[in-house]
Amino acid sequence: MNADTDMTAAHSPARGLRGAGDAVTGHAISCRDIVVRFFSERRSVTAISGLSLDVPEGEFLTLLGPSGCGKSTFLRVVADLLPPSSGLITVLGDKPSRARANGDVAFVFQDAALMPWRTVLQNIELPLEIAGKSTREHRVRTMELLDLVGLRGSENAYPNELSGGMRQRVSIARALIGNPRVLLMDEPFSALDEIVRDRLNDEIRRIWKETKLTILFVTHSIYEAAYLGERVLVLSANPGRVRDIVPVPLPYERTLEARETPEFVSLAARLRRTLETC
Ligand SMILES: Nc1ncnc2c1ncn2[C@@H]1O[C@H](COP(=O)(O)OP(=O)(O)OP(=O)(O)O)[C@@H](O)[C@H]1O
Ligand SMILES: [Mg+2]
Repeated sequence: MNADTDMTAAHSPARGLRGAGDAVTGHAISCRDIVVRFFSERRSVTAISGLSLDVPEGEFLTLLGPSGCGKSTFLRVVADLLPPSSGLITVLGDKPSRARANGDVAFVFQDAALMPWRTVLQNIELPLEIAGKSTREHRVRTMELLDLVGLRGSENAYPNELSGGMRQRVSIARALIGNPRVLLMDEPFSALDEIVRDRLNDEIRRIWKETKLTILFVTHSIYEAAYLGERVLVLSANPGRVRDIVPVPLPYERTLEARETPEFVSLAARLRRTLETC
């Protein structure tokens, strides 16, 4: 699919776009002509230029693109960590600040950033404590999350006793403790070896299916982007723009063997060709 064609369709009134702050039914994220510029004394950088996109609620969207094309910047805009210089964005039909205040958006970064002096359980419960909620009242939920991320039995371990993959599982559970509806993941598995990464790829798809979250997942791996996503958003650099939005022709139920199918191989080849021209 050509991104420009898709964006034209997305602009049509039939898709229900209204002004910022108005509800856009069914879209977890809706943005039009987002521009992000950074200014310093010496120079200004246009990190994102004219980005328009609709992400239906419940979609698993992966983001690919060369270094510096604005992937992390875009996630920061969605999370209300950075206001766009211009353009409209709604998250769950409202301003990003509202979605953030409601706890509807959570972030997982490349570095799990756990508190070394807190156990697995205490790290997962940290957002509850910050929000002034009772960890005791939420203990059932915390235990469910430990099951969801496969860490039951390790709740009393400290981060230095965990593998890199386990630490990322803790950070995923910590992100999910507040019941977000949108999960932003910025290269969460890129520091892990391939076998662990494969396992976590399967797990994050399972978590996505069980929780029905909307996930935006940034990666530098063509294979990860193609395996995880329902669509792959490819951004080009200087400035960051939508280069292509590619639907993934794999079934909803996937196993890693799907990567050996002709559909997957030709998708990966298409993504590689697109990336080469970014
Ligand atoms: N706080 C900032 N101040 C100034 N420039 C910034 C800032 N944050 C990002 N940029 C610039 O914006 C552009 C996009 O950066 P961003 O981190 O979003 O890229 P990215 O696609 O996530 O790259 P990578 O794949 O390397 O993580 C880059 O040119 C970067 O230098
Ligand atoms: Mg980045």
